[in-house]
Amino acid sequence: MSHKIILDTDPGIDDAMALFTALAHPAIDLIGVTTTFGNVAVSQATRNALTLLEMAQASHIPVAQGGASPWIVPTPPFPDFVHGADGFGNLHLPLPTTSAITQPAPAFMVEQILKHPHEITIVAIGPLDNLATALQLNPEIAQLVKQVVIMGGAIEHDGNVSPVAEANIYCDPHAAEHVMAASWPVVMVGLDVTHQVILDRALFERIRDQNPRVGQFMYNAVQFYMRFYGSIRGIQGCYGHDISAVAYVIDPTLFQTIEGSICVATEGVAIGQTIIDRHGLSSYALKNWNHRPKQKACVGVDAERLRALFESSMTNEFWGQ
Ligand code: BDR
Ligand code: CA
Repeated sequence: MSHKIILDTDPGIDDAMALFTALAHPAIDLIGVTTTFGNVAVSQATRNALTLLEMAQASHIPVAQGGASPWIVPTPPFPDFVHGADGFGNLHLPLPTTSAITQPAPAFMVEQILKHPHEITIVAIGPLDNLATALQLNPEIAQLVKQVVIMGGAIEHDGNVSPVAEANIYCDPHAAEHVMAASWPVVMVGLDVTHQVILDRALFERIRDQNPRVGQFMYNAVQFYMRFYGSIRGIQGCYGHDISAVAYVIDPTLFQTIEGSICVATEGVAIGQTIIDRHGLSSYALKNWNHRPKQKACVGVDAERLRALFESSMTNEFWGQ
C-alpha cells in the first residue's frame, strides 16, 4: 500500500533529501508539494521545489506556494550560513522552467484532503504556517486527514536555535501551537531523533556515483551543509532532519514514540519550545493543558536502518541507472 502525501517544505538541503526520497520510494505517492518561508524566502523555496522536481523528472507533481511570514512573530532572518543564500549551498542553479499552480498552499491542502478523505498524510518539514492556515480555512480537515508528520521540536534534547527551541517550531510558534492543539493525529519527529541520524560524506559519494539524475547535485549541495555541522557540532557529516519525517511515514517501526499533549511556548525566553505532558499531569494543576488531544513524539530511532532506507531510495530503479 502506498501512502499519499503532501510535502510541506522550505527547500533547503535536507528538504531536498526528503523530497527525493518521497519521490523514489515505492511506499510513497507524492501528490503535491507546498512551500513556505523558512530556510529561504518563500519565493526561493518555490523555485527550489520546482527545480528539485525538474531535476528528478517529476515536474508533473504540482507545487503550491504558501506562507511568506509567520502568523504573529516577525520573520526571522533566513539561515544562509546553514543552507546557503539560495537554499542549496550557494550552487546558484539556473531558474526552473516550470511554475507553481495559482492555488495557495493552504487551499491546496484543504482541497486534496477533502478529495481523498482519510488517505492523505501531510509531511511538514518547515515552519507550520501553511498547516495552521489550512486548519483555519476548514477545521473539518482535522477529521479527514490520515496523519500529520512534522519534522520539528525537541523533547529532551536541547534546541538548535535557542537552548530549548528547534528551528521549524521557533520560526512560527503560534502556527505550531495551533497545529499541536488540534484534534488530528500528529507525530513529532524532532531533534531527539534527528540528531542521532548522521549522514556522512561516504554515503553522499555513493549516491553521487549511483544516481545519474540528482546524485551529483545532492553531493555538491551537501558539502556546504556538512561544513556547517562540522564547525558548529563537530560531527563528520550532517543530520538527517527532514528525511527522518519521510522515513517515519514509510516505516514507523524505525522509531520509538511517547504520547501526550504537546504545547508550544509562544512567548518569553522559551519561545518555540515543545513541551509534552507524557504523564497526564496536566489535569492536576494547569488548566491550559486540559482537553488537549494526545499526540506522538519520537524519542528513539534505529539510525542504521534509516540511513539504509535513505541510501536505497536515492539509488533505486526510479533514478534510471
Ligand atoms: C530543520 O530546520 C531546517 O534548517 C531544516 O531544513 C529542518 O527542517 C531542522 O531544525
Ligand atoms: Ca526543512
